[in-house]
Formats: sequence, structure tokens, C-alpha cells
Amino acid sequence: PVPPTPLTAQLTKQPTKPLLRTLAGLPSTRPPLWLMRQAGRYLPEYRQTRFEAGGFLDLCYDPERAAEVTLQPIRRFGFDAAILFADILLICQALGQHLEFRENEGPVLDPIRTAGELTRLNPNGIHKTLEPVYEAVGRIKADLPPNCTMIGFAGAPWTVATYMLEGKGSKDYPAAKTWAFGNPIGLNTLMEILIEATVAYLDRQVQAGAEVVQLFDTWAGVLPEAEFRKFCIEPVRRIIAALKARYPTLPVIAFPRGAGIMYDGYAAATGADALGLDYTMPLGWSKDHLWSKHVVQGNLDPRLLVVGGSALAEGVQRLLSTFKGRNHIFNLGHGIVPETPIRHVEELVRLVKGSEALA
Ligand code: CP3
Repeated sequence: PVPPTPLTAQLTKQPTKPLLRTLAGLPSTRPPLWLMRQAGRYLPEYRQTRFEAGGFLDLCYDPERAAEVTLQPIRRFGFDAAILFADILLICQALGQHLEFRENEGPVLDPIRTAGELTRLNPNGIHKTLEPVYEAVGRIKADLPPNCTMIGFAGAPWTVATYMLEGKGSKDYPAAKTWAFGNPIGLNTLMEILIEATVAYLDRQVQAGAEVVQLFDTWAGVLPEAEFRKFCIEPVRRIIAALKARYPTLPVIAFPRGAGIMYDGYAAATGADALGLDYTMPLGWSKDHLWSKHVVQGNLDPRLLVVGGSALAEGVQRLLSTFKGRNHIFNLGHGIVPETPIRHVEELVRLVKGSEALA
């Protein structure tokens, strides 16, 4: 199929940007391409800008530098989307919780221990802290190449709650699960706060120029079915419903990492337009159960991008041939890792963009 010129697209009201076209269900000769964590430590220019800013959080709240690191991978690799440089945990700080990022340790928060402490969190006060993020979105949008789409994002309430309750990353989330099973009313109160704050946060990102939003539910895969429905599906459904009430055509990508067969029905239950598949999702099953009905995004294992060579080439080919022609956004199945060689990212871009010539 011949991509429409801007004029025919205008007349037919079809989007021209590759990512927006795929999200609208239109066919394409190659999938649009971007990578989760595409701005980050594997890039020397990122490390330099981060060093100049001071620390990671200083970088997140510095609109000029946050815009700069967002655009670095766009300049280097020509990805089809730029994802705002920020973090899913900024909202915890904006709500009034202490947050810091320690070198080689990751995020550290002052954990919430009782439902009574939730009254200290103020969803109405978040914009004061997050104003520099909205300013970064505006700067990125202004400097974006014409075919590149601006993605805003937030953490999904369950994943953000795990960090708020544990006070740090964890493997099995003992505190958050104790709330989920033992104090569901308390956890629901936290969910209400996070739903309200997340809608307000994403609304402002869209006002500032985000064209698509992604919700990261990194720890969706640790809950049994009933709790998955209550604390992963339901809050995400409410956030998407509130956003769509304000912006009916806004595309929303949801990434319920580790959800397994619960991916089936997830898009219908939440109203998400596209499903971010993690790297464990089998391609045949995903094709039959998800891709046939929805846009899917993913799901190359980020370690393949570290290994490179024929393993990388085969992984890319398998994805390209499984999800051919439409409904696929090429991405990783989780974030890029810091030890990724730049030449392997260049090779990935060649393989995906080169697939156009073969289409
Ligand atoms: O994708 C992008 O390029 C946009 C920016 C972005 C970051 N974090 C920057 C970041 C996005 C979308 C995120 C999302 C995020 N943050 C998630 C969900 C996605 C996922 O990876 O599962 C989660 C769970 C977090 C929380 C978080 N942030 C952790 C656990 C850590 C420490 C681990 C690590 O990789 O260092 C971070 C830090 C972080 N967020 C970095 C970056 C570039 C590294 C900070 C540094 O420069 O040292």
C-alpha cells in the first residue's frame, strides 16, 4: 500500500505519522519502531547530560535537559516515537512521599505503613511538582521531527502502589500483597488517589503535546486473578475511561507485564487501544488471541539486543513475519538495558526499517 501524502491524509482525516497510523488500524509496509527506555545509560550523550544535571531526579525536573535526552535517541536512530523522559515514580513525590534514586540501588521511598498515612497524600497538589515535566513535553513537541510521535506515560496504579508500600523495588512484593489480601479497602483508597492523580497528570501531558499515552504496569504479573482484576484491570479501565471522556481519539497503550493469558480480554476490559507484550508472550498465541483483534507492541527480549548477531536477526525476523502488514508496533518486551551496544541498536533499526523494501 502507498502511504498517503499529507494532503490526501488531511482530506481523509487519516493520520500521517507511522505510529498513529498503526494505532488507527491502518496497514503499513513496516511496523513503526521505538524502544522502551530508549533514552538512558547505554548512550554516552545521556550519561553526559545526566552528569551535567546532577542526579537522575534533577534531570527529570530540568525541562531543557529532559527534552534533550528524550530527543537524543531520535537523532541517533530515527525512531518513530519519542517517549517523554521522566519516571513512573515522580507522581509519588508529587503526592508528597519522599523519593530518591540511589546509585546502583534504584528508587528509595519512605514506605506507607498504614491506611491512616494515606490522608497525607494530596492528589490536588501534584502539578506544582510536575510542572517542569509538562514544560519538557512542550519543548520536545516543538523540536520533534515531523513523522515522529510524542508519547506521554505514567505508571499504572498497582505498579506505582508497590513502590509506595514497599519503599523500594522488590521481587515478591510482601507489603503490597499484604494490603491486597488483608486490607483491600485501604489499598482501594490508595487506588482512588492514584487514579485521580494519574488522570490529572496524563491530562496535562496531553494538553502539553503528548499524542499517545502509555501506562506501565510492570508488576501486573504478580497477582492472582481476582486481585489482578481489582487492582490492575479496574484502575486502568477507570483511567482510560476518564481520559477518553476528555480526548475521545487519544490512543492508549497498556503494558501489563507478566499478565500471561490474562492479556486475553485485557484490552476489551480496560479500553486500551494497544497491548504492550512482554518478552515471555508466545508469538503464535499472541497472534491468534490478541493481534487478530488489537494492535500489539513488542516484544523482543532486551537481552537479544545485548547479544546481537544472528540471535538478534532471527528474533527480529520472527516478529516481523508473525505480525506482518498491520497492528504491530515494533518494540522490546521490557526496557533496554544499560550494557546494550549501540551498534546492535543500529542493526535493529536497519533490520526493521529494511523490511520495508522487502514488503
Ligand atoms: O523509556 C524512556 O526512555 C522514558 C523514560 C523512563 C524511565 N523510566 C527513565 C529511567 C520510563 C518510561 C521509565 C518507566 C519506569 N520507571 C518503570 C516502568 C517500566 C519498566 O522499566 O518496568 C519503572 C518500574 C520505573 C522505576 C524505576 N526507575 C526503577 C526501578 C529504576 C532503577 C532501575 C534502573 O534501571 O536504574 C529507575 C531509574 C530510571 N528510570 C533510569 C532511567 C533512564 C536510570 C536512571 C539513571 O540514569 O541512573
